[in-house]
Amino acid sequence: MPQSPIRKLVPYAEAAKKRGTKVFHLNIGQPDIQTPQCALDAVKKNNLKVIEYSLSEGSETYRTKLAAYYAHNDIVVNADDIIVTTGGSEALLFVFGSVMDVGDEVIIPEPFYANYNGFSTASGISITPIISKIDNNFALPPIEDFEKLITTKTKAILICNPGNPTGYLYSKEEVKKLSVIVKKYDLFLIADEVYREFVYDNTKHYSILKENELDDHAIIIDSVSKRYSMCGARIGCIVSKNKEVMRTALKFAQARLSPPTYAQIASEAALDTPQIYFDSVIREYATRRDILIKELKKVDGIKVAKPKGAFYCIVQLPVKSADSFAQWLLEAFEYNNATIMVAPAAGFYSTPVLD
Ligand SMILES: Cc1ncc(COP(=O)(O)O)c(C=O)c1O
Repeated sequence: MPQSPIRKLVPYAEAAKKRGTKVFHLNIGQPDIQTPQCALDAVKKNNLKVIEYSLSEGSETYRTKLAAYYAHNDIVVNADDIIVTTGGSEALLFVFGSVMDVGDEVIIPEPFYANYNGFSTASGISITPIISKIDNNFALPPIEDFEKLITTKTKAILICNPGNPTGYLYSKEEVKKLSVIVKKYDLFLIADEVYREFVYDNTKHYSILKENELDDHAIIIDSVSKRYSMCGARIGCIVSKNKEVMRTALKFAQARLSPPTYAQIASEAALDTPQIYFDSVIREYATRRDILIKELKKVDGIKVAKPKGAFYCIVQLPVKSADSFAQWLLEAFEYNNATIMVAPAAGFYSTPVLD
């Protein structure tokens, strides 16, 4: 199993904290935004006498309300098209296991969310990377390049939209190109849409499930972690209209019995979060992004793409080794008794990077 680049420098961060240095954690997608009050209250105020298992696919009431959330986002699904999972992480693992056998391949534009490396290793499948470039903000690589990488072992294309760590938001046209190719080669299109709400500059997210005729191919990975700042709830879901995929994923879900009960109560209540909450969170993230990009651009030799979504930023630094630099920030650097922790980007690639 590969180490997570997001967490591998934790011992250095802990040592810095012990020395009395404040560490700003820019390495991990843990929002500092408050969880919606309605979600917290639902847990505090309920009077469960026994914390029972729920259904393996998740509670009926939660899935029904989730279907209404998707309808509100122009994604037409019903409760049966949803399996609730322990975070988007478990959704990824179940989907990899459900659509691929050991030795199969999934094509993923890189850099990509680092834990795709871990989940593919755990599932015995291999990632075929296709490089997206900082020079065009990590846009979708040419579709012909995808085509060249398809082999008899290729079962799926996975995109993260908006992207972690790139912040790239795939356009409707890019999603349409992908939908043509997955139909042509009979592949699955897996879209990790856990950052769906977080898009900036008046852009709009275009879900793969808005694509007509993609029902048999499209699988969405979703999560409450970032949407409602509920990372510790550990609730996500798989959404697909492909019945066979869902039947198989349910077997994985049955093996782990059920997703957490209290967290489903919180997640169901979170669906009542008013739009005003999102409006203010999006404004806050956009402001932070603008400050970060503006300040980074003042540094000579830095290349940075302006994120259109999510809340990450990948930066090309004028250093020999990003790993050593990130470690140095924690071991030797401080400014006003504080430093930052970042995640070295090599772990967000499956192509070996020099550093
Ligand atoms: C792109 C992406 N997918 C999935 C996850 C998994 O999140 P969780 O398991 O908390 O739902 C994360 C977490 O950072 C992520 O960034």
